[in-house]
Order: sequence, then C-alpha cells, then structure tokens
Amino acid sequence: MNILGIETSCDETAVAVVGDDRDQPAIRANMVQSQLAEHAPYGGIVPEIAARAHLDHLDRLIAAVLDEAGLGFADLDGVAAAAGPGLVGGLIVGTTAAKGIAWAAKKPFAAVNHLEAHALTARLSDAVAFPYLLLLVSGGHTQLLVCTGVGRYRQLGTTLDDAAGEAFDKSAKLLDLPYPGGPAIAERARRGNPRRFPLPRPLQGRDGCDLSFSGLKTAVRERVAALAPNDDQAVADLAASIELAICDHLVDRTARAVRWFRAHYPEGRVLVAAGGVAANAQLRVRLAGLAADAGIAFVAPPPALCTDNGAMIAWAGLERLRLGLADSLDAKVYPRWPLDPTAFAPKMPR
Ligand code: KG4
Ligand code: ZN
Repeated sequence: MNILGIETSCDETAVAVVGDDRDQPAIRANMVQSQLAEHAPYGGIVPEIAARAHLDHLDRLIAAVLDEAGLGFADLDGVAAAAGPGLVGGLIVGTTAAKGIAWAAKKPFAAVNHLEAHALTARLSDAVAFPYLLLLVSGGHTQLLVCTGVGRYRQLGTTLDDAAGEAFDKSAKLLDLPYPGGPAIAERARRGNPRRFPLPRPLQGRDGCDLSFSGLKTAVRERVAALAPNDDQAVADLAASIELAICDHLVDRTARAVRWFRAHYPEGRVLVAAGGVAANAQLRVRLAGLAADAGIAFVAPPPALCTDNGAMIAWAGLERLRLGLADSLDAKVYPRWPLDPTAFAPKMPR
C-alpha cells in the first residue's frame, strides 16, 4: 500500500507518502513547511493566518512529495488527512484537499485523528505491538493511555489544565525566548543550573495519573519578575529549572501509570512516548530509565516523527485503511476529538 497523508491541524503544513513493503513500513517522502515566520509578529498562532498559509503551501507540497516518492495519484492506495482535533480552518483545508484527490483518483479516504496518528507512530518507527502504554505529550495534549488496538485507547490520566508543551511554550514566552518554547528552553538549559530555582512539583504522592502544569507557569512568572535584566546566566538557570520540573512531573505521573499497566496488562512490554515534547532529550533519557527499572522496553520515535509531520497521518491512514476503516467523503472535522470517548473527566481507573 502507498498512502498520502496530509497534516494541517495547527501551524505546520505537512505531507508524506508512507507505504508498506511486505509488512515493513517505508516512508517514501516526508516534508514539513513550518509557518513560524507568518505567525512570529503576533507572538502566537493566529488560526486565520494558519488556514490561509496551509492553502498557500499545500498544493506545492503534495506535488513535491509525490515527485520525491516517484508516484502519481493513480499509484496511491488511499488518501489520509488529519480531521481533528485542531484548528478547524486548517483541518478543512487539509481534508478538502485529501477528499478532492480521493474522489478524482477513486481512492479510499481516511479521516485521521491527529492524536491517534501520534499514538501509532511508534508502530511506524519501531513496529511496537499492542498493547502498550503511551505518554502522549504535545502542544495541546498531555495524556497517559493504554493502546490496545487501532481505534482502541483507554485513558489513565490527562492534564487538569495546561499541556506539557504549553508549559514549555508559555514559560519560553515569559523568558522572552522564541516559539516553539520546548527546543528554545532545552537549548538554554544546557548551560544552566537546574537546581538554582526551586519550582513546584504538582500532585506529588496523589493517587491517579492526572497531571497539572498551571502552577509551574505561575511560579515561573514570579521568578521572571524578580530577575535582573540581561542576566543570561539566570535565564539559562531558570530554563534548566523549568525543564527539570516538567520532566520530573511527567516521569512521576508516568511511573504510576507504568505500575498500573504492569498490573493490568502483564502481556504489555513497552512504554511509548509520542508528540512534540517526546523530542526532548532529557525526557527520553529519564523515561528510558523508568522503563528499564520496570523491566519493560522504551520506545520514542525519532524527534522528527515526534513533532507534527505528514508521515504519522499517512501511517495512521494506512493502519485504518488496511483494516477496512475508510471514511465517507462527507466526513466532518472536529476541533475536539478525544481518543477515549468514555474519559469525560480526569479520573483513575480501578
Ligand atoms: O506534537 P506537536 O508538534 O504539535 C501538537 O500537536 O501540539 O507538539 C508541539 C509542542 C510544542 O509545545 C513544542 O514546544 C514542544 O512540542 N516541543 C518540545 C521539543 N520540541 C518540540 N518540547 C520540549 N523539548 C523539545 N525538544
Ligand atoms: Zn501534534
């Protein structure tokens, strides 16, 4: 199979073709066009600008990806696009393009959940088998889930307020560092002392696997207000303290989820991290240590497949279409689309 995947849910226009040769996944072409420059003057993502930028970039990117893959529309076995959760303007641009190609070339269409695409990426990169425990950490979502099959997710915990990526991004903004904040903070943190500024570790010792990052943001704001201007070392120290606090919290809550997972899914052998924050080097090292202590494997896709990309959408489309899960061409887009529809409120399963 060769599936074209289109990602337009936020501020990256991303397109890829992923295939499977004798059950081996193969990324044939994978391109990302970032919109950083378009949004930079506004200090955040402007949904209307994002939608228009997707429209500007998408056709060229699709042509370039097919060119690199050496394929035409007729060679495809399906077309997938992110249909949510995300900014609806961008989602409409991406799904409409995908539906148009699917209709014209008479190929099946897959409306992909962006979170499911993050969740399944470890199967593209490392052929991880179900069931596995997933820490999904991105700019808009922070969740602990058990993945038992395509379309089958059980949420163990979620953030009560901000997402982990949001904590990085908001802290970076307070420190006058560029967007996206995760890489900017990690880069400054390399020259910093992570013990200089004590920052809160929320929900410590509390039952369940829910998370919280809003107290951290408040504490960072107070620290920044007390910093002397142009004190580069203090910025590096605070960046290191922020990165450590976020990683400590993620590792603490994931450790609880690992214990629950080991007790309830003894056949499960893998902890997976996915989403943009899973590109963080410190987090990857610490989660690998946590998994090793629990006697299970740790898998995180390569950083370029953790942040938003087209290959993950194509792969999720491929996984769905080979199970016969095609969507109709009047499929809708969804600003919110939980992976576990039964998990309305943060809670811990019994
Ligand atoms: O998955 P993603 O690309 O987009 C969403 O679906 O949200 O995640 C983007 C988030 C941003 O908050 C960004 O700051 C964070 O991932 N991020 C990182 C790193 N690279 C990206 N956070 C920490 N360390 C990184 N190296
Ligand atoms: Zn994402």
